[in-house]
Amino acid sequence: MSIHSLLDQHPNQQIIASVLSRYFFTLVTLISCFFVSDVIAQEHHHHHHGSLHHWEIPSKDPDRIILTFHGDPATSRAVTWRTDHTVNKSIAQIAEATVNSKFTENAVALDAVTEPFDLGMYKGNVSLVVHYHSVIFKGLKPDKLYAYRVGDGEYWSEWIQFRTAKQEYSPTKFVYFGDAQNDVLAHWSRVIRMAYQTAPDASFVIHAGDLINHAHRDYEWAEWYKAGGFIHSQWTAIPAVGNHEFMSVAEGEPRKLSVQWRPQFTLPVERKLDEKLHETVYTVDYQDIRIIVLNSNDQLEEQTDYIEEKLMSSSAKWNIIVCHHSVFSPAKGRDFEFARKNWKPLLDKYNVDLVLNGHDHTYARGHVPVRTTDQDSAHEVRTVYVTSVSGPKQYQLDRDQLNGYEKDGYQSVKSGEQTQFYQVITVEDNQLTYVAYTALGDEYDRAIITKDFITGKKQLSE
Ligand SMILES: [Fe+2]
Repeated sequence: MSIHSLLDQHPNQQIIASVLSRYFFTLVTLISCFFVSDVIAQEHHHHHHGSLHHWEIPSKDPDRIILTFHGDPATSRAVTWRTDHTVNKSIAQIAEATVNSKFTENAVALDAVTEPFDLGMYKGNVSLVVHYHSVIFKGLKPDKLYAYRVGDGEYWSEWIQFRTAKQEYSPTKFVYFGDAQNDVLAHWSRVIRMAYQTAPDASFVIHAGDLINHAHRDYEWAEWYKAGGFIHSQWTAIPAVGNHEFMSVAEGEPRKLSVQWRPQFTLPVERKLDEKLHETVYTVDYQDIRIIVLNSNDQLEEQTDYIEEKLMSSSAKWNIIVCHHSVFSPAKGRDFEFARKNWKPLLDKYNVDLVLNGHDHTYARGHVPVRTTDQDSAHEVRTVYVTSVSGPKQYQLDRDQLNGYEKDGYQSVKSGEQTQFYQVITVEDNQLTYVAYTALGDEYDRAIITKDFITGKKQLSE
């Protein structure tokens, strides 16, 4: 058919309509240009509303699979995953891994606990009922490589391997991240993946709060899970809550813990504590390392007692505290005075080894030196404090503020800004080696604590 005949067959109306629609389109474009940029920003912000990315849509296939500690790390582990609302019965299978696929014949199946909730309770989300499933593996053998998978009997995850802890004290390696928080998929992915390249054999990973920016916004959690991918299902996570994990669900309502937090992380519950603190304040004992995780947002007095109880009862060789807010703030205008007044004296008293913080979007390492006239004790230290950031948001470093903490008995050693970091901490014999890496995988900072386990005396070398 020739063009001529085409035109002949189509009446002029159509050409007019096409011209009109083009004019109309130009008009619409012009009008929208007059709207304030705010509208466009908001549009961008909620771009997913009603049109989810395929990787945030729940299905029958398990996604957001993550390991956490629940009980003795030598004999137990928890796994949590998500599906759509049609999956009501889920299981996890586990077996000691073998060199071939025959381990599946010995796999034990455990029924999952299923927790449904509507993401739409937060207006920034699409109204969608999701199911979170969790299983706690118990009675595992220490220091064994296990393979597990999760699913409903038809739709399965891949088999995923992890190693149980040893029962006795032995070398351990783990990773620690400051705030990931913003543009997590775009800009945190390379950091967690570089950390995985540096320490693939890490036994666990500490997230020191502000994992995402808007507590309940499911798109951001989707980003967090996608950024880490299978790493989340292979490394065991120790997540701490930041201030950004607390927001109101609807306007005018009080701030509330991220609606996803408890369903998606199966964490130890400290029954003696107020219910509000459950799964945000807990302790992990890993091969003679005690990690006390705090919620620095809420009910701080109650946690002062908790810290004392956990430190007093600790027989661990190393004691580590994790909380979001920085005890010695490197960022301009920040101040967590409560912790310095109420928590630091306890950390001094019980000779805590390491405090890991976030919140300030800068980098700082310092410590509490032991003041002495003895030359041999010149490098003697008590607690080493670190603040770090893994995500793209960066604040201004305030060196004067850091130096000002000298009056609180703190000595600033190394600081940094405008850099994304991850840290790898190794414990072996009587040494704890702390190394901070930049997003490029380059070493930025290193500190070695050498401890006399009998006297508790510690020397710091850099
Ligand atoms: Fe933050």
